[in-house]
Amino acid sequence: MNNNFINYAHRGAPSYCPENTMLSFYTGVFMGANGIETDVQVTKDGVLVLFHDDTLERVTGEKGSIKDYTYKELQKFWVKKDNFKDKIPTFEDFLLHFKDFNLTFAIELKVGGVEKAVADMIKKYGVQEKVIVTSFNYDYLKIFKSFAPNIKLGYLTDKVDNSTIEKLLNDKFYEICPEGRLVNKENVDKWHSLGLNVRAWGIYNEEIMKAVYNAGVDGMTVNFPDKLTGDIFDNYENE
Ligand code: G3P
Ligand code: CA
Repeated sequence: MNNNFINYAHRGAPSYCPENTMLSFYTGVFMGANGIETDVQVTKDGVLVLFHDDTLERVTGEKGSIKDYTYKELQKFWVKKDNFKDKIPTFEDFLLHFKDFNLTFAIELKVGGVEKAVADMIKKYGVQEKVIVTSFNYDYLKIFKSFAPNIKLGYLTDKVDNSTIEKLLNDKFYEICPEGRLVNKENVDKWHSLGLNVRAWGIYNEEIMKAVYNAGVDGMTVNFPDKLTGDIFDNYENE
């Protein structure tokens, strides 16, 4: 196994737990993840919280969106998965709990306008070296960079062409984060040779996970971090 490889618990371990909750993050780490990926949004009263969807419906059954509620109001809701439930956490609580773990954090900006607050929070907890800030929205990342020029950036994308790579290199991005289906050994080698780290997302099943790992990526986000660890994973190589 590549010793620098990062198994990111994607929203924690959502195959088993309510996603983007403390329960889910701890479960992911317990299962062997050496990274956590999560999504940042902001409440009506300006609190940074961890939540993926545009609306609350799918995981809480409630109406509306994160921005429609104060943090206190959101605390009445439960994020659910099977028989488990937990609250929507703040980004600050997440950092308080995990800052001293030997983990890498992939922090995705899901909404605009939070760039400075996210940069300030990362600095407040001194985790600049452990964080890669990501987004599908290139503008958010450029704005973030203006507040924290030394924090690593990763661009999430489902389309990679020469102009994408050129843009990332010009803006001194650390990482390209392509969807798993775009990854093969040839393009991973090429992106590495240009100085970019490669971290994949969209790993929907173990078959994609194996193919992406064997293409030589530096990490991937998975919903089932237990499947991407140690000896179990070593067995996939050379299959
Ligand atoms: O690893 C990044 C991945 O989280 C991007 O997709 O939709 O799960 O935020 P999404
Ligand atoms: Ca995400």
